[in-house]
Amino acid sequence: MTGLHDRVIAVTGAGGGLGRAYARTLAAEGAAVVVNDLGGARDGTGQGSAMADEVVEEIRRAGGRAVANYDSVAEPEGAAAIVETALEEFGAIHGVVSNAGILRDGTFHKMAFENWDAVLKVHLYGGYNVIRAAWPHFRAQSFGRVVVATSTSGLFGNFGQTNYGAAKLGLVGLINSLAEEGAKYNITANAVAPIATTRMTNDVFDAELQQRLSPEYVAPLVAYLCSEDITDSGAVFIAGGGKIRRVVLAQNPAVVFDTPPTVETLASRWEDIRDLSTIERAVLELG
Ligand code: NAI
Repeated sequence: MTGLHDRVIAVTGAGGGLGRAYARTLAAEGAAVVVNDLGGARDGTGQGSAMADEVVEEIRRAGGRAVANYDSVAEPEGAAAIVETALEEFGAIHGVVSNAGILRDGTFHKMAFENWDAVLKVHLYGGYNVIRAAWPHFRAQSFGRVVVATSTSGLFGNFGQTNYGAAKLGLVGLINSLAEEGAKYNITANAVAPIATTRMTNDVFDAELQQRLSPEYVAPLVAYLCSEDITDSGAVFIAGGGKIRRVVLAQNPAVVFDTPPTVETLASRWEDIRDLSTIERAVLELG
């Protein structure tokens, strides 16, 4: 039995793609799952398709426990209703996988405010809203598991995704501080940057790559990060196509000035200040 048995986990955006795989894996490991999905299109427009119902049916047919929820994570009331669904149906909430997402790509100079805003609302505010609704329960029971979906687009940058990248790295900032605040309540908060073939990426990867990038390769990591066994917190992982790696921010050893430097002195030390050669060694040692 894994540390997921009888735990109640809400997975947002679980009507398809990665979220569906997360929900199915969690349920197969004995967790009761709230399958949340608004049921909209890839850009967040529309709603109401029966995606969440279908995933719940799949889980129940396989002998697992799941309930559907159709609220939007972008609104605090919707997020509160997701947590309420867990409490009403299963009597508790032990974990949140903040996975719901939309795409509104475009170069920065052409990006309309509404496309910036909509992406921040679903990813960053959506994460905040659902975690905030679950947090008092996590504290009261001295147990909570948070997993957010970040992205290599936020960690490393990607052309045409300033809105998405900002939201996704914002979630890493969120879990870094949640890890600190949750520590004494046995609440962990981690991030996973998935790489998988879904409707979000089906025009990004070529056919050969699509075959290797099944969401099934990412789901066990997300499920494990929701389990009792996990003590890591504030960690970021990249997972896809059979590879799972941890990613860290790094710093160089610092150039020290005993008195405030002039701009000219600083400029004369610039090559040392920007030097990353020693960091490369530090990261390799971790690996
Ligand atoms: P997807 O489009 O299949 O899944 C996203 C789901 O979120 C959809 O089912 C959608 O209906 C739901 N959703 C959208 N807005 C919502 C809202 N306001 N409330 C509730 N549900 C809502 O895409 P995929 O690829 O499965 O993405 C899952 C997560 O993983 C997203 O956060 C995405 O940004 C992230 N991600 C995916 C990558 C990939 O390679 N597929 C790469 C990096 C990050």
